[in-house]
Amino acid sequence: MAATSLLCISLTLTLLHLAAANSEGDALYTLKRSLSDPNNVLQSWDPTLVSPCTWFHVTCNQDNRVTRVDLGNSNLSGHLVPELGKLEHLQYLELYKNNIQGIIPPELGNLKSLVSLDLYNNNISGSIPPSLGNLKNLVFLRLNDNRLTGPIPRELAVIPSLKVVDVSNNDLCGTIPTSGPFEHIPLNNFENNPRLEGPELLGLVSYDTDCPAS
Ligand SMILES: *[C@@H]1O[C@H](CO)[C@@H](O)[C@H](O)[C@H]1NC(C)=O
Ligand SMILES: *[C@@H]1O[C@H](CO)[C@@H](O)[C@H](O)[C@H]1NC(C)=O
Repeated sequence: MAATSLLCISLTLTLLHLAAANSEGDALYTLKRSLSDPNNVLQSWDPTLVSPCTWFHVTCNQDNRVTRVDLGNSNLSGHLVPELGKLEHLQYLELYKNNIQGIIPPELGNLKSLVSLDLYNNNISGSIPPSLGNLKNLVFLRLNDNRLTGPIPRELAVIPSLKVVDVSNNDLCGTIPTSGPFEHIPLNNFENNPRLEGPELLGLVSYDTDCPAS
């Protein structure tokens, strides 16, 4: 009896494990379907496999959970998808130097393990989601060379781990945060945003009506 229930428990755990792996594969496959991939870099992304861990440009940890997606410089276009927010062990999301359009899904704020969000050199529009302030392990936030609008969310200033922020060459507005991690970010990393007004003074946030959040 005890042996049987142990077997049941371990079978259930295995199935749960596979289901988790599959849901990560499903999320990535949703991304693939939303992208145009003329160079076939996503050819190995086969949704019928038991997990995405053997796909090229995807890295998993020992528990078969996705930790990296490396698709910089891959000639991809199309849109990001909210399903990316399900990759709860993802540490590196590298999609720089493509031609991705559309918005940054607010669901990326669910990526609690994320260390690096590199979306620079694309064609991304909309505003920077305040939900990114939930990324308590984030170190690198590089969104430069896109078409982002709206303010720099103050929520980002409470991320203790944040070391590198680059939002240059966009169309952001409002003022530049100066507190927390922003104390150490060089002003160059904000340049070429014609409507950005410069560093906020005395911690006074000016969310002026000329700079709506979306
Ligand atoms: C990128 O894709 C386009 C087709 O959309 C193709 O014409 C071009 O050669 C590709 N660029 C590179 C660097 O592979
Ligand atoms: C960027 O996206 C816009 C649509 O949002 C499109 O009109 C424009 O051609 C794109 N730019 C490039 C370089 O593909």
